[in-house]
Amino acid sequence: MSDSPRVALATCSWLPDGSDDVVHLMKALAGLGVRAEPVVWDSGADWASYDLTVVRSTWDYPARRDAFLAWADAVPRIVNAPEVLRWNTDKRYLRDLAAAGVPVVETLWDPADVPSSWPEYVIKPAVSIGSRDTARWGPGEEERARAHLRALRSEGRAVMVQPYLSAVDTLGETALVFRDGAFSHAARKAPILTAGAGIEGPVAFDASRGQVTPSEAAPSSSPSPNAPSPPRPAASCTPASTSSRGRTARPC
Ligand SMILES: Nc1ncnc2c1ncn2[C@@H]1O[C@H](COP(=O)(O)OP(=O)(O)OP(=O)(O)O)[C@@H](O)[C@H]1O
Ligand SMILES: [Mg+2]
Repeated sequence: MSDSPRVALATCSWLPDGSDDVVHLMKALAGLGVRAEPVVWDSGADWASYDLTVVRSTWDYPARRDAFLAWADAVPRIVNAPEVLRWNTDKRYLRDLAAAGVPVVETLWDPADVPSSWPEYVIKPAVSIGSRDTARWGPGEEERARAHLRALRSEGRAVMVQPYLSAVDTLGETALVFRDGAFSHAARKAPILTAGAGIEGPVAFDASRGQVTPSEAAPSSSPSPNAPSPPRPAASCTPASTSSRGRTARPC
């Protein structure tokens, strides 16, 4: 019997072999003498038999968030603190960030009607990934937008309405990855929501929508006085490969 640690990389039944980065992770861990394998989070696996469980591609959680969080609470030796999962699987965390002085996108929470002051806006549920149930609405689309808002609210879901940020189309969206509090690397996410397209459905694993490419994170020229220090630029970030958003991005 091997003494090497055994690690479960939690995934979902859509992706029983894990997302594409799991292959790289398993190889890297094998080089460290760690045996890692993808395990579907709701498969009834014997989690106690693993030395460590790491949440990776558990992307079906939005529809079953309570069950997912109960699972995380019950797994012994899980690397992702359940209280952090509880916090960051619901975008109402933006309120906490705003209260801490972090600049966040202006957001209307559970409004009774669609906004009239923004030329274009986004309606989305607070619990979602991959832009599921998310849409960009503009002039002349009020009735469809209203139906979207009402449908989400009638399902009892917390709803967010934000102005559409045109910088997502021009500059893109930059995801910053920190490890142990230190900036590690950045990725650029291409735009996902198309004007006039309504609810397009979630980003597919092979989609060009929302493609993720390596990026450099540059410090902001005018940081908010209360915001955390800007990340230092990535020392080197060679665009070696691209990947669809669904394969690499984690729920945020
Ligand atoms: N206010 C906005 N302005 C412009 N684009 C937006 C806005 N809100 C959302 N989007 C677009 O929709 C995508 C999905 O939105 P968001 O990241 O808020 O939710 P998500 O479904 O949780 O996605 P993720 O898989 O990144 O967690 C964003 O990556 C961005 O392309
Ligand atoms: Mg996101």
